[in-house]
Amino acid sequence: TSNKMWGGRFAAGPDAIMEAINASISFDRRMAAQDIAGSRAHAAMLAAQDIISDSDADAIRKGLLTVLSEIEGGTFAYSTALEDIHMNVEARLKEVIGEPAGRLHTGRSRNDQVATDFKLWTRDQFDAAESRLLALIQALLGQAEAGADWVMPGFTHLQTAQPVTWGHHMMAYVEMFGRDLSRMRDARARMNESPLGAAALAGTSFPIDRDMTAQALGFDRPSANSLDAVSDRDFALEFLGAASICAMHLSRFAEELVIWSSAQFRFVTLSDRFSTGSSIMPQKKNPDAAELIRAKIGRIMGANVALMMVMKGLPLAYSKDMQEDKEQVFDAADNLMLALAAMEGMVKDMSANRESLAAAAGSGFSTATDLADWLVRVLGLPFRDAHHITGSLVALAEKNGCDLPDLTLDEMKTAHDGITADVFDVLGVENSVNSRMSYGGTAPAQVRAQVARWKGILG
Ligand code: ARG
Repeated sequence: TSNKMWGGRFAAGPDAIMEAINASISFDRRMAAQDIAGSRAHAAMLAAQDIISDSDADAIRKGLLTVLSEIEGGTFAYSTALEDIHMNVEARLKEVIGEPAGRLHTGRSRNDQVATDFKLWTRDQFDAAESRLLALIQALLGQAEAGADWVMPGFTHLQTAQPVTWGHHMMAYVEMFGRDLSRMRDARARMNESPLGAAALAGTSFPIDRDMTAQALGFDRPSANSLDAVSDRDFALEFLGAASICAMHLSRFAEELVIWSSAQFRFVTLSDRFSTGSSIMPQKKNPDAAELIRAKIGRIMGANVALMMVMKGLPLAYSKDMQEDKEQVFDAADNLMLALAAMEGMVKDMSANRESLAAAAGSGFSTATDLADWLVRVLGLPFRDAHHITGSLVALAEKNGCDLPDLTLDEMKTAHDGITADVFDVLGVENSVNSRMSYGGTAPAQVRAQVARWKGILG
């Protein structure tokens, strides 16, 4: 038998393969609550505008709540023949309330309906990302505050560069996740326009009130062009774009945690709650959560690229290609939220190994720059000469198998005879970090100022 919704034009029903490629109910059922909210707002507006009767609108609005409770209670029978969540809900409404159900779809199309539902769903994900990011930032602030003056090596090229503080490193991620937060907020503000009432593409001849439905659904305003309203998936792409950048940040941090928790580094100990063991090697404690967070960027960025490819060649307005938008966003959102939660848990639980950090901070000639700066500041040498002299002392220490502070004053003087014993003050890592008082620098006082600034922002 042909589809109930368009049986007038059709003599035969679809081939089984047609049904399989066409149906979206297996995934778009996740938008059931949004679909029902959109329909309830639409029905109320139709009655307010005297397009349908108040009693029909009441029946529709009550009936939709019954359908919602069936869906939430798990008793709803989804039908693939009915393609998608929109037609599943409407068909069930017809069974529950009878004839008035047929009036719901007045002045509306599945095109503006699906755009509305999907926007409402995605809007919730912007909000969820925002609260998860805030929680992660709080966890990082806790680490930063506790270890504002714990020294550790800072790296470039993963080679020891200059000593930094644990708090400084944590606050670097606070800045990154803070920008992710602001990207989510920006995109949410931009996307919050209601497509409902754009109908199929051209608007409608019914005297609908788009402001009323926009307001009922928490949108700031109706979207200004009906063709754009049903064609736009920018909001989903912006979510995926912001999610991809956030996942990239999570992945970089996860990579550091994998390295830092290794026996070779011992910078951090991850809690048992966020680690796994090995079935064969009894000594193992593996950073699986960090590794999986590191991997999530693949599917999230993949979703971003996939939807971009779906959209790039579509003429206006709606094409069925656009049905492929949802699984990408669902999967990316699920995995982003999980990764953010797992990172928050790991960060809260992990303990920095202060001694290992300090020992590593002092190795690898990490205060060579401080020595060069001393030669400039105290002896008045040009920086390039100071760099060269310091380089020769690093080479000497390397040859002797010791670190810079282990060289004797006489050995120092072989490089430049103006060097005095004062130089040893700047070779200590504590002095090194304390001296980096420039705004945003690694000095504990600067790190504490960064923490205070963020606490002020978060209130
Ligand atoms: N299931 C469809 C989707 O996800 C709903 C919109 C269908 N519109 C249409 N004109 N066939 O995009």
